[in-house]
Amino acid sequence: MNEIVDQTSKFKEVMGNYPTGVTIVTTADDEGSPVGLTVNSFASVSLDPLLILWSIDHRVSTIDIFRSSDKFAVHVLAGDQTELCNLFASKGIDRFNNCDWKLSEHNLPIISDVFAVLQCKTFKQVEAGDHTILIGKVIDITKENKDPMLYHRRNFGVIPSKFYA
Ligand SMILES: Cc1cc2nc3c(=O)[nH]c(=O)nc-3n(C[C@H](O)[C@H](O)[C@H](O)COP(=O)(O)O)c2cc1C
Repeated sequence: MNEIVDQTSKFKEVMGNYPTGVTIVTTADDEGSPVGLTVNSFASVSLDPLLILWSIDHRVSTIDIFRSSDKFAVHVLAGDQTELCNLFASKGIDRFNNCDWKLSEHNLPIISDVFAVLQCKTFKQVEAGDHTILIGKVIDITKENKDPMLYHRRNFGVIPSKFYA
């Protein structure tokens, strides 16, 4: 038992130290109402076809909507969007009444002013422990001239200028 606890805390220590970007993934329910959450499990998968993945915790309130939807939109946040990141990770606040968004031609809720948006058709769902991995085929990409957000050990940041020196 202690060995399992030990392995879990080492796992959290390693994964919590792994730097990522931050995304918000959205979709719409049967009535067209928007849902979404903050996600950092996003990764690139394939170039041919264009595939990405992210994973959703089984405890997320909207998991059944994401599982039954045939599409979703991944918003890669810009460096100055910490508030948006916190909004989509907080309980008890109406997320879509507190940000600018509109429905796309694919009927996906698209949040304004992010670094990039990848609209995806659900390609495959894989059950993996206490998460479901959602693999998406990219059907539309938009990108703004901004820098993406960085996330490390629960801290948010921007790309340090020395990266470009
Ligand atoms: C930086 C960050 C990254 C996150 N990444 C994920 C993720 O990859 N998958 C996931 O299911 N939840 C992730 N979460 C947690 C969800 O955003 C959070 O639990 C959300 O409030 C769930 O939505 P709900 O309130 O509708 O249940 C992340 C939270 C933060 C702050």
